[in-house]
Amino acid sequence: MKLIEVKNYEHMCELAASYISDKVRANPNITLGLATGGTPLGTYKKLIEDYKHGKTSYKQVVSFNLDEYIGLTGQSPNSYRYYMNDNFFDHIDIDQDNTFVPNGIATDLDQECKNYEEQIRAKGEIDLQLLGIGSNGHIGFNEPGASFESYTHVVELTESTREANSIYFERMEDVPKKAITMGIASIMKSKEILLLVSGEHKHDSLAKLLTGDLTEQFPASILKQHPSVTIIADAAAIGNLNIKEVMYD
Ligand code: GLP
Repeated sequence: MKLIEVKNYEHMCELAASYISDKVRANPNITLGLATGGTPLGTYKKLIEDYKHGKTSYKQVVSFNLDEYIGLTGQSPNSYRYYMNDNFFDHIDIDQDNTFVPNGIATDLDQECKNYEEQIRAKGEIDLQLLGIGSNGHIGFNEPGASFESYTHVVELTESTREANSIYFERMEDVPKKAITMGIASIMKSKEILLLVSGEHKHDSLAKLLTGDLTEQFPASILKQHPSVTIIADAAAIGNLNIKEVMYD
């Protein structure tokens, strides 16, 4: 894993956006794995600015999102499909047919999970996967205890994740209890991973990722075994961690 320390959220977003847009320009047919949540919002904003300056085209780009709530349609402002359209896809020249988000209202959810995995394979795997991290170490919606062998599947959300995400909903009761998520094995298949970590509230999870054991109880710990992970973390998330001591390659 490679760790890049930046001053603050703004710098993290700038660096992440130039990292991603460089890759898109170098490989216009790239398959991106995309994430939602508060962390990547600023990165999408910067990517839109870069696009508007005519620097990068997404005409041939394919994207797969990590996850989606079960029970929300793409028109629901809280769905991840809506988030992606609203915060990114509607502002760039990507072909919407090439943007994949699991269908949270599929009648056969298990079949939807299988199809999603097959679609990723059919597009030749994810070249660059963007990731955030939950305070309990979740990646995508792979909560503590998720099998490292898992592919796209249906999950029950933990109360802590529902609470963390309730800020986007009117009432706690509105936060879905289940989601579809790419599994840990799906994420690990991507050729490269870019993990963004910002804010003091993410310090503990970053510290655990860098210094803790490899365990299914802390899903992000699997990233230590991926051959190409870049972490961009801001000073607030790094806090008093002695980076030189904790990084081993
Ligand atoms: C959410 C998403 C994850 C995201 C994480 C962190 O539940 N499913 O993909 O990375 O939690 O969210 P945030 O960036 O808002 O802290």
